[in-house]
Amino acid sequence: MTAKPAPMTRANPLQRAREEFRAHVRRGLAAPRKAISCKYLYDHRGSQLFEEITRLPEYYPTRTELALLERVAPELAGWIEPGAMLVEYGSGSSTKVRMVLDALPAPTAYVPVDISQQHLRSASRALARDYPRLAVKPICADYTRPFLLPAAEGEAPRLGFFPGSTIGNFSPPEALAFLKGVAGELGPGGAFLVGVDLRKDRAVLEAAYNDARGVTAAFNLNLLARINRELGGTFRLEEFRHQAFYDESLGRIEMHLVSRKAQEVTAAGEVFRFAEGETIHTENSYKYDLQGFRRLAERSGFAAARSWCDPARLFSLHLLLVAEQPGTILPVASDGRHLRPEAGD
Ligand code: AVI
Repeated sequence: MTAKPAPMTRANPLQRAREEFRAHVRRGLAAPRKAISCKYLYDHRGSQLFEEITRLPEYYPTRTELALLERVAPELAGWIEPGAMLVEYGSGSSTKVRMVLDALPAPTAYVPVDISQQHLRSASRALARDYPRLAVKPICADYTRPFLLPAAEGEAPRLGFFPGSTIGNFSPPEALAFLKGVAGELGPGGAFLVGVDLRKDRAVLEAAYNDARGVTAAFNLNLLARINRELGGTFRLEEFRHQAFYDESLGRIEMHLVSRKAQEVTAAGEVFRFAEGETIHTENSYKYDLQGFRRLAERSGFAAARSWCDPARLFSLHLLLVAEQPGTILPVASDGRHLRPEAGD
């Protein structure tokens, strides 16, 4: 008798995500320099703690970007044709999205793209309620990988939006690959509005990632608590401490978890040894200067049309246009604006 083949079992997305996390943690903790990707900082508790971080007095990016966006939003109408589809990469910034939607001339669609069903659902519901003329078309996807946008109505222009300097959590080669992908998704005539944190005084940067109330420390240490909860880890959180410092030569804040003593920890079914002072690298947050970011954008198939920053030069917003040809640098008008070539030029 031939045995029946075992039924094909297809893991549901949650199981698949758990397995990816397990494999990532095993690899990351077995590496000579221990590291875990910052994307795993954002479970439910991590997302709550990050929300709290955005309201801290030391964490200037969120409030600075909001104030800048308030100033910049009215200018968007001069760049984006009526009837645009707004595509938000990630879906956590409802206040900022509304500022953009309110400034655009008769936007027709809002497309939040996020890996988290929960974030998508809440972002979509609230926007659909408050903007009844807007078609809300959420896409559940990892926006760092290629995905297809819904067809735009007629020739509706596409405006991508990626606030918060989340692009700083990619390494420069990852940021380049991401921007290339976005240029492809938005297509000809598309525009991309990106928030980018700027290089500045070390003291200001380091204070933003070492707040006095210890919220950033709790956010970082929550990664170990998450491993304990989801992967049967035995991390004792009091045996690790948060560390964040600015590496000026690389232009990035690094976040680590430092082992306070020599110890062994079980996680994801394996035992890992830590020396005293050894760290797990948990996040990079790259800071750019205006020109550096514009150059990166222009290597990715965008023309850097306009950049804005606040008076203290803490944070910047960039409007990028999908270039007709990669590397195109647009002509500049007398008011400093870059001009889009007219048809026939
Ligand atoms: C989400 N991201 C842009 C934040 C940052 O500043 O890099 C994450 C963060 N990490 C610690 N504090 C905030």
